[in-house]
Amino acid sequence: MTIHFIGAGPGAPDLITLRGRDLIAACPVCLYAGSLIPRAMLDWCPPGARIVDTAPLDLDAIIAEMQAAHEAGQEVARLHSGDLSIWSAAGEQMRRLDALGIPYSATPGVPAFAAAAAALKRELTLPGLAQSLVLTRTSGRASAMPEKEKLATFAASGATLAVHLSIHVIEQVVTELSPFYGAECPVAVVFRASWPDERALRGTLATIAEQVREAALERTALILVGPALASSDFGESALYSTGYDRRFRPRGGV
Ligand SMILES: C[S@@+](CC[C@H](N)C(=O)[O-])C[C@H]1O[C@@H](n2cnc3c(N)ncnc32)[C@H](O)[C@@H]1O
Repeated sequence: MTIHFIGAGPGAPDLITLRGRDLIAACPVCLYAGSLIPRAMLDWCPPGARIVDTAPLDLDAIIAEMQAAHEAGQEVARLHSGDLSIWSAAGEQMRRLDALGIPYSATPGVPAFAAAAAALKRELTLPGLAQSLVLTRTSGRASAMPEKEKLATFAASGATLAVHLSIHVIEQVVTELSPFYGAECPVAVVFRASWPDERALRGTLATIAEQVREAALERTALILVGPALASSDFGESALYSTGYDRRFRPRGGV
């Protein structure tokens, strides 16, 4: 039977894809990462489903759950927060399933950075200001950063940065980024984007650490840095300019 890895989105139960929701409803077993998946998401499970919070389990125990379901002929919905492609630990589970010959599928989800940008009502790539978005993090207990992936390396580009898993080291983030972006560079911190208690702080590299301390919010937050976070001084995209000739709106066409 198949293990369906599903990106469950940033938190709001209606920010899962229709495909993800329908898979949950079709699976008699649901494994979910309890720290970031809202309980309301589990309402999509069919009556009588075996629902397991994997937060307290190790990898062996999670794979054992999948293997037991597979041998019992049961499909499994495996929920991870946001999208599967970043910091989901799906990679190591898929590698184990490959070794066991157990089939699996992958369904994408709304990542936290997209929910945070929506909370701020900001586009993160603006003409002339920033045309790249770097999704990164700082070293944590579970994963060290590869030597070449320093914040400073990404900061040198001036791109918009989305720094994950780092709110507890906001001072360090500010210290590392300030030489590149300057103290007045806009920063936004979005806590629990799309959850009922979502909060957004807007400041600069000079102010944000103090704002985070005062707000006393510690977990599940994204730090967004770069001029695109606040400026209204940016060019318009050529895409919609009247003089721009393109396939779907040829010059002189209706
Ligand atoms: C283990 S990573 C999971 C990332 C996820 N796979 C994604 O696609 O966004 C967890 C980190 O993502 C960020 N994050 C996840 N959900 C969030 C949310 N609703 N609001 C703000 N940040 C969030 C935080 O930086 C958190 O520490």
